[in-house]
Amino acid sequence: MTLLLWLSSWSNISVLGVFLTVFTVLVDFMKRRKKWSCYPPGPVSLPFVGTMPYVNYNNPILSFEKFRKKFGNVFSLQNCWTNVVVLNGYNTVKEALVNKSEDFADRPYMPIYEHLGYGHKSEGIVLAKYGHVWKELRKFTLITLRNFGMGKKSLEERVTEEAGFLCSAISSEGGRPFDLHLLVNNAVSNVICTITYGERFEYGDETFKKLLTLFENSLNEEIGLLPELLQVVPILLRIPGLPQMIFRCQKEYIDFTEMLIEKHKETWNPAYTRDFTDAFLKEMAKGNEAEVNGFNRTNLSFVTSDLLAAGSQTTSTTLRWAFLFMLLYPEIQSKVHKEIDKVIGRNRPPTMADQANMPYTNAVIHEVQRCGDIIPMGLPHMTYRDTKLQGFFIPKGTTIITNLTSVLKDETVWKKPNEFYPEHFLNENGEFVRPEAFLPFSAGRRACLGEQLAKMELFIFFTTLMQKFTFVIPEDQPRPREDGHFAFINSPHPYQLQAVPR
Ligand code: HEM
Repeated sequence: MTLLLWLSSWSNISVLGVFLTVFTVLVDFMKRRKKWSCYPPGPVSLPFVGTMPYVNYNNPILSFEKFRKKFGNVFSLQNCWTNVVVLNGYNTVKEALVNKSEDFADRPYMPIYEHLGYGHKSEGIVLAKYGHVWKELRKFTLITLRNFGMGKKSLEERVTEEAGFLCSAISSEGGRPFDLHLLVNNAVSNVICTITYGERFEYGDETFKKLLTLFENSLNEEIGLLPELLQVVPILLRIPGLPQMIFRCQKEYIDFTEMLIEKHKETWNPAYTRDFTDAFLKEMAKGNEAEVNGFNRTNLSFVTSDLLAAGSQTTSTTLRWAFLFMLLYPEIQSKVHKEIDKVIGRNRPPTMADQANMPYTNAVIHEVQRCGDIIPMGLPHMTYRDTKLQGFFIPKGTTIITNLTSVLKDETVWKKPNEFYPEHFLNENGEFVRPEAFLPFSAGRRACLGEQLAKMELFIFFTTLMQKFTFVIPEDQPRPREDGHFAFINSPHPYQLQAVPR
């Protein structure tokens, strides 16, 4: 009797097991099924994991190149149940981001940031969903940055002053071999920190070193298969303590910016706006309407940390590429020196007005950005509505990856896509030209908000340092590597240089 009961309950469990398995397989099949005709082609999607096993998440661009050869400029991937479409080549990316700007203006929701307080009306700017709150914040940020001098003289003066401090710090290395990573980062971060929080850090400051390490580690935390998996299977983030454990540095980074804001609030006087944080606090004080537009305390932290994150590593990494290329190509360095001597001389600091008279230096900076290619996959976009691109149907809610490497190194546009060749930006008369496929800041509605500031910093920092020093590879050091290291940002491998005063 007991045996019979046992057998019958066992068979019930088996039936239930079979039922659940069939049900799960069916749900998975339905979720991955593409019910639309003309959906972009892509590798075969496997049950549950989709195409994730085919992608090298430590360097996705390599995998994208392979798929592009097989499937063309618009191909699809499947991250578990999330539909992803990758856009390649200048024409495709331009058609999406410029011609159909609003269709591609959304961002995918990022559950991996929820543990930081990220959510409805507190998404910062960079990852905010396309809509009213994002529009208000972007407008406010652009206007406020402009009021603090973005694109105006006062900010130029600030950048020039910081470039001067950087020169002194480099001089104090006394011509010995050193890595300029920390110094350049410090200088560039000081510009955005002053605008945002009214703070700058002395070179060598321990707190700043901690901030930099936290930031770099938090970027590392976000790459690889695990974060990608958590993004597409957010239920896993409910495992108690898991997000805090995996994204520890991210949390510490936000806590750090919180500390800056709190310190700042102690001296806040609504009658006097010192910086971006003050302007935001003033907006918050307007009450409910402001809250609806995204001006709340949590978002203050996200918006300012977005500015710091987006505005420091990007520009400083580009500058590190610039000095690396100067080491690797001394003949190009010497042409830049000649132009600086001719147009600016050795005594007065460079100004933005000089740029128009310095086509070669300008071309070199643009070529640094093209070759450095620091954000190879751009930031993820999402379709805001059903749309069509190059004859393919892409439904609303599809995650879009813009392969910026494929634009900056598009063989149909650039004469020598994989070489450092400043002539890409010069015409036959030696005048500066900017091909349309130069898109390191991306394009369209979500294009980089700090493009003007970044361009000013690149020009002033680069020319100021080049005016004062010749950069050489130290005798005991190998020739630095020209390839990059990918951790969302594509940065040069660490290298040493000597700054010889001119
Ligand atoms: C060389 C320096 C820089 C490069 C190459 C760069 C590049 C980019 C790229 C590729 C994007 C993504 C655009 C898209 O989603 O299609 C972006 C977005 C953004 N950048 Fe930059 N950036 C730089 C400097 C800066 C600076 C200095 C700031 C700060 C003021 C800044 C603030 C932002 C913001 C706030 C966004 C998000 C815009 C939005 O989603 O509406 N960036 N940047």
